[in-house]
Amino acid sequence: MLKDKKILLGVTGGISAYKAIDLASRLTKAGAVVRTILTKNAQEFVTALNFAAITGNPVLTKEFQLNEPIAHVEWAGWADLIVVAPATGNILAKAANGIADDLLSSTLLASPKPIFFAPAMNIFMYANKATQNNVETLKSYGHYLMEPASGMLACGYEGKGRLPEPAEIAQAISIILNSTRDLVGKKLLITAGASRESIDPMRFITNHSTGKMGLALAIAAYWRGAEVTLIHSWIDQSPPEYINAIKALTAQEMHNEVFRTRKDQDAIIMTAAVADYRPAQPQSDKIKKSGDLSLELVRTKDILADLGNDKLEGQILVGFAAESENLNENAKAKLHKKNLDYIVANDLAVSGMNETNINIISQDSQIEFAGSKLAAANQILDTIFKV
Ligand SMILES: Cc1cc2nc3c(=O)[nH]c(=O)nc-3n(C[C@H](O)[C@H](O)[C@H](O)COP(=O)(O)O)c2cc1C
Repeated sequence: MLKDKKILLGVTGGISAYKAIDLASRLTKAGAVVRTILTKNAQEFVTALNFAAITGNPVLTKEFQLNEPIAHVEWAGWADLIVVAPATGNILAKAANGIADDLLSSTLLASPKPIFFAPAMNIFMYANKATQNNVETLKSYGHYLMEPASGMLACGYEGKGRLPEPAEIAQAISIILNSTRDLVGKKLLITAGASRESIDPMRFITNHSTGKMGLALAIAAYWRGAEVTLIHSWIDQSPPEYINAIKALTAQEMHNEVFRTRKDQDAIIMTAAVADYRPAQPQSDKIKKSGDLSLELVRTKDILADLGNDKLEGQILVGFAAESENLNENAKAKLHKKNLDYIVANDLAVSGMNETNINIISQDSQIEFAGSKLAAANQILDTIFKV
C-alpha cells in the first residue's frame, strides 16, 4: 500500500527521534520514497547520515542552500504526505500558528495538504493547555494527529507522551495515503479476537483467530474519520491507544458489551471469533489430573443472530464467515439466516496472518478481494458505506 508513495519525513528534537530511523526504514522497505528534513535540534539526537543511508534519498537540514534554493516549496509540493515524527511541542506550536522560521516549519506552511503529526514529549509538556490548544487547532485545520502512547517516559515520568511504535505509525500512514476522510460523522462498532471460555482457573477453550482483521478495520475506519468502538476478546497485538477499545473475553461478556454499545452505531462489523460452546460447569479450582476427562459443553448466545433478530433501523449489520469448505454457499446461508446486510466470507484455506482472501456478499452483490488485511479493511468499508 506504500509502493512509490512520496513521503516527506520531518524529524524534530525529541528524545524519541531515534525511533524515526526505524520508521524511515519501515516506510522505505514497504516501497515508499522517503525524503527527510531534520531540524537543527533533531541533529542533537540523530544524524542526517542515518536517514540518507536508510532511505537512499536526499536529507535536508538547512533552509538556505545553493543546491536546493527553494526546498520548502518544492519538497512540500513533491510529497504525497508530510509526516512529522516525533513532533515536539515546539513544532506543534509553530505549525498551529503559522510560524516558519526554519526549513521544516517553512515546509509545513508551504504544504497545501493535510499533514500527519505524531507528538511525543514529557507528560506535562503534552498536557500543557498551550500544547492541547495547538493540537486542537491543528486538527481543526484538517491535519492528522496521532495521540502519544502512555508508559514510562525517558524523562522519568509515567503517563501520556511516548511516541507510538513505528509499526503503528507506518500502518496509519498506509491508510491515510490510500483513502480520504470519507467516514467523518459515522459511528462504527467492531468486534475482534478469539473468545476464551474457562474450564477452570488455569484452562480455557479458544480458537486460532488473531483479531488482525478486526484491528485493521478499526484502524482503517479511525483514520478515515469514523468514531470507532472496538470490543475485543484475546487478540495477537494490543490495539493502538487512540482506538476506543473495550475488553470482553467470553461470549457472554461480548454479548453484553455489544448490546450495551450498539445504539446510534451506523454499522456493526462482527469479526470476532466467538465461541459457539462453553463448558457447562467451569470449575473454581484447578481440575486435578486423573484418568480421562469428559467436558460437557453448552451453547453460547449467538450475538450476530440476536442482532439480526432485533435489527435497529438504518444500522448496517456485517458478519464474517470463516469457512474451510463450501465457502460461498455457507456464507450466503448465514447472510439470510441471521438477517445480515453483508457477510464477509473468508477462505481459511488461503488466508494467512497478514494477507487475506475475502468475498463480500450481500443480497444482490458479491465482491472478491485478495491482499493485505489493511487493504481488505478499506475494501470492506468502501463496500458497506458505498464510497
Ligand atoms: C535531552 C532532551 C530531550 C528532549 N526531548 C523532547 C521531547 O521528547 N519532546 C519535545 O517536545 N521536546 C523535547 N526537548 C526539547 C526540545 O528539544 C526543544 O523544545 C527544541 O527547541 C525543539 O526544537 P525543534 O522543534 O526545532 O526540533 C528535549 C530537550 C532535551 C535537551
